Amino acid sequence: MIHDSAIADIEALTEQIMEKMNLGTGDARGLIGNLTDLWRSRILSHAEEEEDGLYGEIERAEPGSECKFERMKRDHEILGILVQQIEEINLSTGNIGEIIGINSAMLRILELHDRDEEELLPDP
Ligand SMILES: [Fe+2]
Ligand SMILES: [Fe+2]
Repeated sequence: MIHDSAIADIEALTEQIMEKMNLGTGDARGLIGNLTDLWRSRILSHAEEEEDGLYGEIERAEPGSECKFERMKRDHEILGILVQQIEEINLSTGNIGEIIGINSAMLRILELHDRDEEELLPDP
């Protein structure tokens, strides 16, 4: 499903982090911490809710639909792994360019995921 406001918040924060990187001023670790908090609180927690609720309901209502949801769950899993990677980099090298790259990939994955999810899930 669409996570428009969460995506807008993630993009705005990403801009701020990139500005910091380009200016070469100060430490972006705090902002990157806020970024991973956003991914966890707005995207991953939503994903968990879907897996606990909606996905299961549809699977039960439509026998044989399980395989369709396997790849949606894999997308959630990949996003979770990538958030963790950002957290690890932020604690170790703090390489902002690498973090921005992972974050951009996550936004692309989320975009594709939302598109597929819209096709799979009934209108609310
Ligand atoms: Fe969703
Ligand atoms: Fe999802």
